Amino acid sequence: MTPASIKEYEPLVAARARELVSCLRLRDPQIGIDLVAWVDLFTLDLMGDLAFGSGFKMMENGRDMDWASGSDGLSSDQRTAAVGTSNVVGQVPWLIPTIQSVPGVSQIIKDFNSFGQALAKQRVKKVAIGTRDLWYHLADGKKATDENSVADGIVAIVAASDTVASTLCSVIWFLLSHPHQYQRLQKELDTAIADGDDPFDAVKHQELHFLRACINETLRLHPPLPSNGTRQIYPSQAGQTIAGRFIPPGTTVSTPAYSLHRNQDYFSPHPDQFLPERWLQGSQFDSHDSSAFLPFSLGPSNCVGQKFARRELSMVLCILFKSFTLRFADGFDAEAWPREMQDFFVVTRGPLYVQLTRR
Ligand code: HEM
Repeated sequence: MTPASIKEYEPLVAARARELVSCLRLRDPQIGIDLVAWVDLFTLDLMGDLAFGSGFKMMENGRDMDWASGSDGLSSDQRTAAVGTSNVVGQVPWLIPTIQSVPGVSQIIKDFNSFGQALAKQRVKKVAIGTRDLWYHLADGKKATDENSVADGIVAIVAASDTVASTLCSVIWFLLSHPHQYQRLQKELDTAIADGDDPFDAVKHQELHFLRACINETLRLHPPLPSNGTRQIYPSQAGQTIAGRFIPPGTTVSTPAYSLHRNQDYFSPHPDQFLPERWLQGSQFDSHDSSAFLPFSLGPSNCVGQKFARRELSMVLCILFKSFTLRFADGFDAEAWPREMQDFFVVTRGPLYVQLTRR
C-alpha cells in the first residue's frame, strides 16, 4: 500500500476508532470490559470497510454476529478454528483426509470459505462503482477477478483484522503491566497532542517516538503471526542450502519470528522483557539487531499492509489513551493472560478485562 492509499484510508480508521471510543463510553465504568472482544469487533468492522467496501456493524450490534448481507454469522472462535486447521494441514498435508473426516472441523472450514467467497463475489460487483479498497490496491489498480478475489478475500479477513487486534491488545497488556512505561507514554501523548486537538494528526504522530517504540517492542515479544507463513523449496529444483544445512526439494520451511525476536544474540540484555527503550535512538543495549525483527515477514509475500497497520495502531492507541485511563479489572489474573495464548498461525487469546475511566 502506498502512502497515498494509506492517507485515503485514514478517515475510515478515524471513524471506526471514534465509534469504538463511543461504544466503550457507554459501558458502566465500574464494570470491567473484555477489551479483546471489543477490539475484535473494531478491527472486523474496519476490515469490512477496507476489504469489502462496507463494514459489518459489529460494534453497533455489540457482538460478533450477522457478518454481512444476512449471511450466517461466524464467531471469532470459528475463524480461529478454520485458520488453525488450515495452518496445521499446511505443515502436515498428509493429515488432510483425516481432518476432512472429522465432521465439525470440515464444516467450519467450509463455512469460513463460503463466507469469504460470498463477500469476495459481492466485492467484485462493487468495483463497477469504483470502490478503492484493499483489493483495488492488491490488484494494482486493475479490475479484481472472481478468482483472485476469493483467495485474497480469505487472506484479507485474517490478515487485516486479527493481526492488528492482537497487537492492540498486547500493547495495552504490556503497558498496564508496566506502569512506568504507561506513564511515560501518557506524558508523550499529552505533550504532543493537547486535549481537544485532533488525536489522529499525522504530523503530530511523527513526534510519538515512545509510542512507536512500544509498538515495536510488542511486535517483538508478541508477534501476531509467531511462526510466520511457510515457504516451500521448489519441488522442481535441486534443493537449497540454508544456514549451512541442505534442505531437499519440496520441503516446507519457515522462520518463526517469535524465536528470532527472543534470541539474545540479536536482542540483549533481557530479550524476554518489555523494554521499549531499546528502540529509541541513542539507547545503549548490548545487542539490537533489527534485521532479526520480522513481524511482517520479509521477501516475497511479506505483509502488504504493514505501513497501514502501523498507522492504524498509532491512531487507535492514541485515541484510547487520550480518552481513558485504563487499568486491569479487579480480580483479573493479568499475569496469566499471555500464558493462555496459542499459536494457530494467528494467535488465540483469552479475554482481557480492563476498567476504563474517562479522562
Ligand atoms: C500488526 C499487524 C500485522 C502484522 C504483524 C502482519 C503480518 C503479516 C505477515 C507476517 C504476513 C506474511 C504471511 C506469510 O508469510 O504467509 C502478512 C501478509 C499479508 N498481510 Fe499483514 N500483517 C498485519 C496487518 C495487515 C493489515 C492491516 C493488512 C491489510 C490492510 C495486511 C495485509 C496482508 C496481506 C494482504 C498479506 C498477504 C500478502 C501476500 O501474500 O502477498 N496485513 N502479514
